Amino acid sequence: MVGLGVMGKSLALNLVDHGFSVVGFDLSQSHCLRADKEAQELSINPNKGQFKIAQNFKDLLSCLVTPRVIALSVPAGEIVDQVIEQLLQNGLEAQDIVIDTGNSLWTDSERREEVFAGRLRFFSTAVSGGEQGARHGPSLMASGDPVAWKHVEPMWTAIAAKVDANGLSIDSHQSGEACAAYLGPAGAGHYVKMVHNGIEYADMQIICEAYQYMRQVLQISATEIGEVFTVWNQGVLNSYLMEISADILKQHDPRTGNSLVDMILDVAEQKGTGLWTAVNALQMGSPATTIAHAVFARALSANKGRRVKASSLLPSVKQTCLEDKTQALKALEDGLYCAKLVTYAQGFDLLKSKSELEGWQLNFSDIAKIWRSGCIIRAAFLQNISAVYEQNSELEHLLFAEDFIEQLSKRVLGWRTCSAQAILSGVAMPAMTSALNYYDALSSSQSPANLLQAQRDYFGAHTYARVDEPSMDKFHLLWESETRLEIKR
Ligand code: 6PG
Repeated sequence: MVGLGVMGKSLALNLVDHGFSVVGFDLSQSHCLRADKEAQELSINPNKGQFKIAQNFKDLLSCLVTPRVIALSVPAGEIVDQVIEQLLQNGLEAQDIVIDTGNSLWTDSERREEVFAGRLRFFSTAVSGGEQGARHGPSLMASGDPVAWKHVEPMWTAIAAKVDANGLSIDSHQSGEACAAYLGPAGAGHYVKMVHNGIEYADMQIICEAYQYMRQVLQISATEIGEVFTVWNQGVLNSYLMEISADILKQHDPRTGNSLVDMILDVAEQKGTGLWTAVNALQMGSPATTIAHAVFARALSANKGRRVKASSLLPSVKQTCLEDKTQALKALEDGLYCAKLVTYAQGFDLLKSKSELEGWQLNFSDIAKIWRSGCIIRAAFLQNISAVYEQNSELEHLLFAEDFIEQLSKRVLGWRTCSAQAILSGVAMPAMTSALNYYDALSSSQSPANLLQAQRDYFGAHTYARVDEPSMDKFHLLWESETRLEIKR
């Protein structure tokens, strides 16, 4: 394991915990010392693997049997290439497998497989679940050389999160379905992880918007919102993000005794994977609107100074007319579910477009399965999503599944009600409302793009197709001429 920071150390300890012996290396002495101390405590148990710190890359390579399996847990970007070059200079061989476990851009993984071909076997495994996941059972999205996967599979299957037959999380030492899968060639694993993170951004944003709505429209305290989330987490909204949000909202500030969330500055940061998803969705022409809005919401939050200025400068004409809090909460719960479902549907739609474009043949049921536990977006309804794709791997759109049509039909009105109320009250819910707009646009058999096409033809002679002619036939109207003649192009 090269890189013994939070994630590398946790993965290494997880491997030792499952009986694999690990050699670790990190340029930071303190990282090495900490990992060594924790690993030695574990290794006292004879069922566990052994752990050893390597002094340098040469030492690391000499400790391993061939073909060597070397996992990198280093920051995404150039460092990955630099570490691989170091390994090559120190004797890495063509049959050795180097696994990148970082949050790398998928195109970097594709490039690396090409660039290092013949010098080593490059393999990718994107890891989700943060420190705890990495230590006790992450979700692992693997891709690359299928022969390399044969060497890696037993290791990843052993340490991954596990679920029982009902899709419920169990201890990673128990036998169950492992949340680790081989997803396809080179970039597929990191692409799927990127979309996972895009969904993560949107899911988090939707929950934050529900919190904001309860705070500002319904005037509910943070602690009480935490209680509401706890209740919601028992039902269809059951998910890790809902669970931690409930926990966070009930937490008091050790310094002031206030709700801790009220003491945290409302400025969001990001490392970029949500942005990558939104950018790629735009490039692909795959409307992942809720994900894009979640990224923009972080950007809008980032300029606190401007928001404070605007709040006193811009007119705020609002209208709040809430009759019943219980009903309003029910509507919000429905809205939360629908927006969440749309987010996942957009993510899977993006994966489908990319898979078709690249010929990856992604298995959406497998992807939903390995997201059921270990990862940040784990949620009870991923069991339903995996079942839907298992029944029909060619499903055109997740929202077209009978199960979800039924779920939506019970909730769309609540979704509209809370969205409309938020807009009237001047509470921004960009993710929730964009999901609703997506839903309405998706289900409009007649869009206003007829007028748009005419506008394009008017100023740019870009042509239009007619409803009464084959769609490949294009026409241009001589808009400025007196005759207004239509020409077939
Ligand atoms: C995961 C997380 C992980 C990381 C995010 C944070 O799946 O374990 O997604 O990869 O926490 O990348 O992203 P931001 O810093 O951009 O919010």
